[in-house]
Amino acid sequence: MNKKLWGGRFKKETDKQFFAFQKSIQYDYILAGFDICHSLIHIGALKDAGILSAQEYNSLKKSLAGILDEVKKGKFVPSFQDEDIHSYIQQRVTESAGDKLSAKLHTLRSRNDQVIFDTKCYCYVEMLNLSDMLKNVCNSFLHLAEMYGDMPFAGYTHTQRAQVIPFAKGYAGAYVNMFTRDIKRIDRFLDNLIVYIGSGALAGSVLKKNYERALKDFLRSSSGIKVKNIKVVENPVDNVSDRDFVIEVLQIISLIQMHLSRFCEDVINYSTAEYSFFDLPEEFCTGSSLMPHKKNPDFAELVRGYTGRIYGDLLAVMTMMKGLPLTYNRDMQVDKESLTSAVSLLQNELLIMARFIKGIKLNRQKIDEVLSDQRLYATELAEYLVSKGVAFKDAHECVGALIRFCEDNKKIIADLSDKELKDFNLNLNGLDVKKVMNSGYAIRSKKASFKNLPGMFK
Ligand code: ARG
Repeated sequence: MNKKLWGGRFKKETDKQFFAFQKSIQYDYILAGFDICHSLIHIGALKDAGILSAQEYNSLKKSLAGILDEVKKGKFVPSFQDEDIHSYIQQRVTESAGDKLSAKLHTLRSRNDQVIFDTKCYCYVEMLNLSDMLKNVCNSFLHLAEMYGDMPFAGYTHTQRAQVIPFAKGYAGAYVNMFTRDIKRIDRFLDNLIVYIGSGALAGSVLKKNYERALKDFLRSSSGIKVKNIKVVENPVDNVSDRDFVIEVLQIISLIQMHLSRFCEDVINYSTAEYSFFDLPEEFCTGSSLMPHKKNPDFAELVRGYTGRIYGDLLAVMTMMKGLPLTYNRDMQVDKESLTSAVSLLQNELLIMARFIKGIKLNRQKIDEVLSDQRLYATELAEYLVSKGVAFKDAHECVGALIRFCEDNKKIIADLSDKELKDFNLNLNGLDVKKVMNSGYAIRSKKASFKNLPGMFK
């Protein structure tokens, strides 16, 4: 265990079990790169204030840059014995720049400022990654749409056969729409997020002017930090106690997860023998240890199953925050567990999902079988009658009675004679029925319905 950042006023050793309980490095090690950026800006401010000499600044900068390089190359290995990522990086600086110099790194700053800086940067970068992954998922739906072009598909309400929809623009397009909304939600989040530096513990910092200059220098240098808005703090009390952005991220993630879960529900249903609309890519299914015939939609089931965990992460942070007095409270450390777990889980799901969707094959024969159900066209028939001057209420009533008659007598409307049709008070003949009660007409007749699909996302 390395030297603590706060040992001075304590006489007794920290209880070992308690120390293990309170440490956060197992979750916050992921913030290493951002924490080093905080330190780089901070030492710039210390140099500007004359607290660090140019030489001291350069040595600290070199030491920090060395660790940052490890992070960028994926070679950074934290010690999970340490308290948190801030303490661990301090320790690493001590190892490379020596005790005396590293003792100056933490001058006039607090982990309260670091942790919110780091976590906001993390949210920014990971939401950007999420957005790219969502674009790939949209592209997979667009790929599916392209493969099945003009194919008609059965649309449901209440899980009951309803009306025919075009597979590409209607079904695949609906999911493209949903995930595009999610992408826009992320864009808005990224636009609004402001990362602050310079809060001190809660009361601000005497280095305000120095931070301003150091931040400018840092951003001008090839800092590699992607975040759009970084500013010197405007209200440190609010800043160190704010975790709204964590909740916003978890809200957005929860919505995306809900969309995924709904699609998975379709996938699970549509791959049953009962529906058989979808043939799922085998690489993403598993079998049964007992029943030799089984091909189970495990990926979709797991995604659906994980929804509770992601909602739980959102609820955990909302609840953790609800009673906290101003300003920073240690409770807030707990947000990392929920945040990083939800982010990495969703990213994992999206990466697999993009490939899974591309592998789905539609079973035209089975879909056509369902599309031959005349009930799917009852609405078109009623609407057609309206075009012939019948009031909709009457048309609805008559077509309803006609469908009921056919159901009771195991008949199909197309086989009824003109005379039988007339018995239902319908101004219809067999030719009308043939013209209207098919998927081509059903789709064509909807003038204001499905917009064209967008081009592939880049
Ligand atoms: N590990 C802590 C967290 O994630 C860092 C901040 C600690 N600050 C403090 N005053 N104890 O919240």
